[in-house]
Amino acid sequence: MLTTSNRGAIQPFLAMDVMAAANRLEAAGQDVVHMEVGQPGAPAPRSVRDAATKALRDGRIGYTDALGLRALREAIAAYYASHHGLEISPERIAVTTGSSAGFNLSFLALFEAGDRVILPTPGYPAYRNILGALGLEVVELATKAQDRWCLTPDAIRAAHVKSPIKGVLIASPANPSGTIMKSETLQAVIETCEELGIWFISDEIYHGLDYGMKPNCALRYSPNVVIINSFSKYYCMTGWRIGWMVLPEKALRSVECLGQSLYISAPMISQVAAIAAFDATDELEVIKHGYAKNRDFLMAQLPKIGLGNFLPMDGAFYVYCDVSSLTDDSMEFAKKSLEEAKVAITPGADFDPKLGHHYVRLSFAGTYGAMQEAVKRLGGWLG
Ligand SMILES: Cc1ncc(COP(=O)(O)O)c(C=O)c1O
Repeated sequence: MLTTSNRGAIQPFLAMDVMAAANRLEAAGQDVVHMEVGQPGAPAPRSVRDAATKALRDGRIGYTDALGLRALREAIAAYYASHHGLEISPERIAVTTGSSAGFNLSFLALFEAGDRVILPTPGYPAYRNILGALGLEVVELATKAQDRWCLTPDAIRAAHVKSPIKGVLIASPANPSGTIMKSETLQAVIETCEELGIWFISDEIYHGLDYGMKPNCALRYSPNVVIINSFSKYYCMTGWRIGWMVLPEKALRSVECLGQSLYISAPMISQVAAIAAFDATDELEVIKHGYAKNRDFLMAQLPKIGLGNFLPMDGAFYVYCDVSSLTDDSMEFAKKSLEEAKVAITPGADFDPKLGHHYVRLSFAGTYGAMQEAVKRLGGWLG
């Protein structure tokens, strides 16, 4: 009998499942407000689309070096110099098919099957799913709202004492909470990892999307960290599947060879277009201003409709609401919100298998009008 693998039988990404259900309702003629997926409503900046159009007109779209076009790697290095005051050699930059590929590449380049990797919960579900499928042991460390959902050096030490840890992965600004790790905490976590011989992977995909407090780049504290970043969020390029990594020298060749065999190269058209994204700051800041307006609106309005139990969002475009006063089953709550209020939201189980049933995540990456409509519908639904 033919059987499929156990390691491939990973958990569904519920946000995507909710989106599929919302799309089915829309196809049946219903009007749905989308707050389930973290995807900018705006298209890629004009300069990006123009660069892609020109590349198409010029003709040949081919493979590139596995590590990416030199011009894009240089543009990314220039971003580190201008935004973070960091001199990073373009040689240390690998262009990837979205940050999602960066997870596969870094996990394969840094870890053996069976190694233990810490993920703070709540967190982005794909980390857990990819690590599991690759045969690594996921060590989920629960973080607390009182700590602004941030991992502490003590928690890492305690887990390492139990059984050695090989890696720690964090995102700041975080998904689903939008919280940003204070610089002192980030530095202390990185120093703890270095002292204990643990790789530190920093998912910086939400850099650029902050509303007061600025996140620091992990490279500021050590050249040995692995940075994963993307053009998907701040740069509004989700569907272009383009991201990057900054790697320690030691991991470079391995990531290059893995990239060659896993996907050859990131799409050339997206690479050419991404170079232009760094010239689109004015346009992108207007979009970010829209998120900030949405954030202020939700922070003021959600408490009025019984959804006030959340931490102020430092960055990204999500609110992680504690709905335990309304339900014990946020999966059912999200299902009803879609079916009855026609507002698509994501159940917390995506981000936290243990306590997620008390939470839902709402994305405020849509338009201001969509936020107003969502509050109106949810308010009516919750009575
Ligand atoms: C924290 C985090 N990392 C990575 C990703 C994946 O992004 P992409 O592969 O589009 O770069 C997402 C997508 O929502 C995310 O929230």
